[in-house]
Amino acid sequence: MLKRATLKETQELAHEVSLQVNDGNIILLNGEMGSGKTQFVRFLCSSLKVKDRVSSPSFIIMNKYETSEGLEIFHFDFYRLTDIRDLEEIGLFEILESKKGLVIVEWGNMFKSLFVKEKNIIDIYFNFIEDNINLREISIQR
Ligand SMILES: Nc1ncnc2c1ncn2[C@@H]1O[C@H](COP(=O)(O)OP(=O)(O)O)[C@@H](O)[C@H]1O
Ligand SMILES: [Mg+2]
Repeated sequence: MLKRATLKETQELAHEVSLQVNDGNIILLNGEMGSGKTQFVRFLCSSLKVKDRVSSPSFIIMNKYETSEGLEIFHFDFYRLTDIRDLEEIGLFEILESKKGLVIVEWGNMFKSLFVKEKNIIDIYFNFIEDNINLREISIQR
């Protein structure tokens, strides 16, 4: 699916994705700084009825939220990650092995090899559109 989306349409796309995810799913978000990755996670979490505040975990690498129905969400941002061994401490491998919770990764393609063995991956790409700061080209591949 490839679509030009206003902010409202980005919200609608996030809502559609929210209906298709559960424990064991992984969402990899890619696109330049400011292209809408964190915004998408906010919309997605809002559709999933997360009450926690959703913010980019850029310095701490991972934030954890929970939906009102008890689905755990692990929100990663790999932008400042230089050594994937740090993910051991943060617990990514344990999370992947458990198949519990929804894993969302901003800049997921920076260390795409971490996910080669995983199924249930949704890849989402965000691109700016020239001359319109309120539109994004969004591609969702699963
Ligand atoms: N159509 C759109 N879709 C998503 N975000 C948009 C759109 N139009 C404007 N924006 C704005 O772009 C910004 C994207 O920032 P953010 O989500 O933090 O980017 P990233 O996490 O990719 O660095 C937000 O302020 C958001 O409101
Ligand atoms: Mg971000």
